[in-house]
Amino acid sequence: MVSEHAAQVLVASNRGPVSYALREDGSLDSKRGGGGLVSGLSAVEDKLWVCAALGDGDREAVRRGVSEPGVRMLDIDAGVHADAYNGIANSVLWFVHHMIYQTPVEPVFDAEFRRQWASFEAYNRAFAEALAEEAGVGAAVLVQDYHLSLVPGILRELRPDLRIGHFSHTPWAPVDYFRLLPDDIGEQLLRGILGADRAAFLTRRWADAFIGCCTEILGGTGRTRVGVHGLGADADFLRRRSREADVDERMETLRGQVGAGRKTIVRVDRTELSKNIVRGMHAYRALLEERPEWRERVVHVAFAYPSRQDLAVYRDYTAEVQRVADGINEQYGTPDWTPVLLHVDDDFARSLAAYRLADVALVNPIRDGMNLVAKEVPVVSDDGCALVLSREAGAYEELGEDALVVNPYDVSATAAALHEALTMDVDERGARTKRLAAAATALPPQRWFLDQLDALRA
Ligand code: G6P
Repeated sequence: MVSEHAAQVLVASNRGPVSYALREDGSLDSKRGGGGLVSGLSAVEDKLWVCAALGDGDREAVRRGVSEPGVRMLDIDAGVHADAYNGIANSVLWFVHHMIYQTPVEPVFDAEFRRQWASFEAYNRAFAEALAEEAGVGAAVLVQDYHLSLVPGILRELRPDLRIGHFSHTPWAPVDYFRLLPDDIGEQLLRGILGADRAAFLTRRWADAFIGCCTEILGGTGRTRVGVHGLGADADFLRRRSREADVDERMETLRGQVGAGRKTIVRVDRTELSKNIVRGMHAYRALLEERPEWRERVVHVAFAYPSRQDLAVYRDYTAEVQRVADGINEQYGTPDWTPVLLHVDDDFARSLAAYRLADVALVNPIRDGMNLVAKEVPVVSDDGCALVLSREAGAYEELGEDALVVNPYDVSATAAALHEALTMDVDERGARTKRLAAAATALPPQRWFLDQLDALRA
C-alpha cells in the first residue's frame, strides 16, 4: 500500500549524495558529495534519493538508523553489491560503453560471469522494490546510469502507474561493439531501459547509438521516448567557490611548485582507464623531446585521483601513471624544474586552483559521456585557458569549435596541439575561453534536471 506521504520525485543511483565513515571512537562522520545530480536536485522539493550503502561506514549508518532527510540507503548484501558493482557494472558495462576491452583476450563470458549477473539482477531488483515502496501514486522516478539498467523494467511491472525515466551518464556503445555481450544479456539490458517512459543521454551521439542497438537487436525502441540533455557546468557555484580563501592558498602553493614564469598544462581526472592519462603524458614527453625550447618553461600539472581501487586493472593503471610521470621527471627534470607535478590525493579546492591558473587544459579521454572538467575550466579560468579536447568526449559536441580538437590515440597530434595551445595569442585565447564558458554553462544542473522532469511528465 502506498502511503499518501510518499515521494512525488524519486532519484535512484548507486552512489548517493552522502557517505559515512566510521571514526576510531565508533562515531560516524558524514560527508556530502558533489556533482551534477546533487546540484541538479537541489531545486526540487518533496523528493527521495534511493542509493546503495557503499562501505562499512554506510552500512553501519543504515544499521543505526542514521540518515539524512530525503535519502534512503539500501543495505544490499556486501557480496551481492561487490558482484554487481565491481563485477558487472564496472568491469563489463563500463568497459563495453567506453570500448576499453583488449578484445583478443577479453571479455570472457563464463560461469563466473553468469554468477555475477545473478547478483546484478538481485541488486537491481532491490532498488526497484525500494522505489516501488516509496513512490507516491503517479510519481516521477529518475533512474541513473549503467548500474541500474534493469530497474525501469522491473519497476514498470511492480508499479505501472509511475512515470519512469532512465539517464545514462556514460557513452553508449555502437551496436557492433555492444554485441560483444551475450545475446540474452544484451537484450535484457535494452529491455530493462526500455521499461522507462523516457531514456535520456548526454549527447545525440550516445542517444543514436542506443537507438541503433534497439533497432538492430529488438526491432525498435517500442513506446519509450529517447531524449538528450547535455549537462552543463554550474557557473554560479564554481565562480563563488573558486574565489574562496582555501583556493587562493592552494594557488600560492601551486605557483611555488610550478616556478615563476613557467606555463602550465593542467589535467584533473579520476584515475580512470578511459581518461587516457598515460597517453597524455606521452604527448607531453613528445613535446619536450621535439621542441626542446619548452624544457624548463612548462609544467604538466596532473591531478589523478583514486578511483575503483578494488579492481586490479585500476590499481595497475594507477601505478602506470606514476611510473610514466616518474620516468619523464627522471629523463628531463633539473634541480630547479620538475616537468610533471603529479598529485593523487583528492582535493577539490586544489583542483579549482589549478583550473584558475591553467594556461592549457588537457582533456583527452578515449571515450567519455560528457567530461565536466572541459566545461569547468573555462568558467573558472583567471586569464583564459586553451582547451585541448578529445573528439571522443561528449563535451566535444558543444565545445568543439573553440577547443583544439584531437584524436586521443594520436600522441604526435596531441603533442602538436599542446604546442599550439601554449603559443596561442593571448587575445584569441581570452575570446575562445569566453565562448567556451558560454557554451559550457548553457544548461546548468538545476535546469538540466528540471528539463528531464518536465519531459518525463509531458
Ligand atoms: C561516472 C559514472 C557515475 C559514477 C562516477 C564515479 O561518472 O557515470 O555513475 O558515480 O563515474 O565512479 P564511482 O564508481 O566511484 O561511483
